[in-house]
Amino acid sequence: MISVTALSKSFGSVRAVHDLTFEVAPGTVTGFLGPNGAGKTTTLRMILGLVRPDAGTALIGGTRYTDLESPVTKVGAVLESTAFHPGRTGRLHLETLCLAAGIPDRRVGEVLTEVDLLAAADRRVGGYSLGMRQRLALASALLGDPAVLVLDEPANGLDPEGIHWLRGYLRAHATTGRTVLVSSHTLTELSLMADDVLVVSEGRLVAELPAGPDLEDEYLTAIRSSR
Ligand SMILES: Nc1ncnc2c1ncn2[C@@H]1O[C@H](COP(=O)(O)OP(=O)(O)O)[C@@H](O)[C@H]1O
Ligand SMILES: [Mg+2]
Repeated sequence: MISVTALSKSFGSVRAVHDLTFEVAPGTVTGFLGPNGAGKTTTLRMILGLVRPDAGTALIGGTRYTDLESPVTKVGAVLESTAFHPGRTGRLHLETLCLAAGIPDRRVGEVLTEVDLLAAADRRVGGYSLGMRQRLALASALLGDPAVLVLDEPANGLDPEGIHWLRGYLRAHATTGRTVLVSSHTLTELSLMADDVLVVSEGRLVAELPAGPDLEDEYLTAIRSSR
């Protein structure tokens, strides 16, 4: 469970997130949808303890990320533009993370299998396609077997087959009772991946919509009436 309450953050005169309140329940894939600059990444970074809010709280299972014991076993995150050492293999990248986090090495093979990247595990990341990098980023997030998964624009740069795979993966993952929050600025992507969609515009929550055939109309109406 993720609980965001009255969260606000400004950068100078730019109000990135403004009095934002929402909850993300386990067992479903929750989409976080809004135009570029709506404050999605800033919100996710506050949830993950990477940006300090000006006001409000972001809690994971009732605790601030920065107060979590062994956070990698509680929350997995895939942020935008994850950088990998290009000369390392995917497997070595994951082994390095395991070592740093005190996670047993056997998780490397498990997560590589889970994201369907085992065949490329011993190739250098510099030669990976964008879709393979996204899978490696997801594998990194899964190492600690966390109950909460936060993904910032994970479908960026994926081809339709990759998006289809991601959708199936996230659905299956949520069905085991985990919490999945996935951001996107693209409605069609999220309508494929999410069960419910939180709509943000100019740092505010403007609608909570079920993903379905009416999502596009309702989204456009919500965005327009918020301005
Ligand atoms: N570190 C930062 N410094 C200054 N402005 C920022 C910073 N991070 C985000 N912003 C601004 O905050 C607003 C929201 O950005 P962001 O959270 O990245 O939106 P989104 O992810 O929805 O595209 C934008 O106007 C952006 O330019
Ligand atoms: Mg963003």
